[in-house]
Amino acid sequence: MKILVTGGTGYIGSHTCVELINAGHEVVIVDNLYNSSIDVLDKIETITGVKPAFYKVDVLDRDNLENVFKENSFDAVINFAGYKAVGESVSIPLTYYKNNVSGAINLYELMKKYQVKNLVFSSSATVYGDDFEVPFKEEYGLGTTTNPYGTSKKFNEIIITDLCKAEEWMSAIILRYFNPIGAHKSGLIGETPNGIPNNLLPYIAQVANGERDYLRVWGDDYDTPDGTGVRDYIHVVDLARAHVLAIEYAEKNKGVDVINVGSGKGYSVMEVLHAYEKACGHEIPYKIMDRRPGDIAVCYADTKKAKELLDFETAYDIEDMCEDSFRYYNK
Ligand code: WQD
Repeated sequence: MKILVTGGTGYIGSHTCVELINAGHEVVIVDNLYNSSIDVLDKIETITGVKPAFYKVDVLDRDNLENVFKENSFDAVINFAGYKAVGESVSIPLTYYKNNVSGAINLYELMKKYQVKNLVFSSSATVYGDDFEVPFKEEYGLGTTTNPYGTSKKFNEIIITDLCKAEEWMSAIILRYFNPIGAHKSGLIGETPNGIPNNLLPYIAQVANGERDYLRVWGDDYDTPDGTGVRDYIHVVDLARAHVLAIEYAEKNKGVDVINVGSGKGYSVMEVLHAYEKACGHEIPYKIMDRRPGDIAVCYADTKKAKELLDFETAYDIEDMCEDSFRYYNK
């Protein structure tokens, strides 16, 4: 298939482009490069032998986005484009809703106009909120989101569901990611956060290579085995493979399906820290701090539906994720 990947130079987008090309698909990337670098295109070429076509276009720029559809005949779209910092979204909600929701509506309108049938959307386990018991199941539906980032994901899920009801020829898979970490084994692509990392793994990596003094552990008084937060970490290459299976499934089906993409296993902050110590070969200093507002204690996926619909299972464990991250951050 010829696939438009919005946000394709980003962390998850670039890894997905590699897997799509490896699976024989043609990839066209649209990205505004707000949170990524154009150098990623050369790295994708080094890994796959193919340099994807690229348009520096913002999904809010409706006319230039339409030109991309005019110049290509797409079979499918994978929509990664969106701001994704939970804390930042609380302070600039309108920016998040404009970019993540209005931008997405531009994209979906053009899919309808140019009759592009298949869509995969990058959603997040954040949409479950703190309303449900773990493991989170897709049929739980949408929970109470606690920040505009999560709410923008919830809005997209509702919009896509209503669109596919109205346009019965369309097919969409909504993938709810848990915690993507790790990097391609080449060490060429990975997560390069701007500024102070919000997420656990990039922060641990910066402490490990001396850029930061210690990891701040946000609370050790949760109802978990060691008191620290438990999350479902999934290797970004496993997550990328799930997108290939999802877009191929969408091509053969109609309607909308929501699918969790996680490992189904929960790891605590301290377990991740110790796994990274094994990967980097030395201790990583940390300090226990107060809880971070908005954090939940435990989050991990029920992965049965991904196995049933996509025959998807994760191949990498937490040690692989830490080893591959360490290689990327120290290349
Ligand atoms: C993981 C655990 C923290 C940093 C968020 C979004 C989700 C997705 C991934 C974008 C928690 C603890 C973290 C640190 C710490 N976002 N932690 N010290 O909050 O589970 O998920 O990021 O795609 O949609 O909700 O991920 O990596 O921030 O935190 O102790 O410096 O690590 O408390 O328990 P989170 P995270």
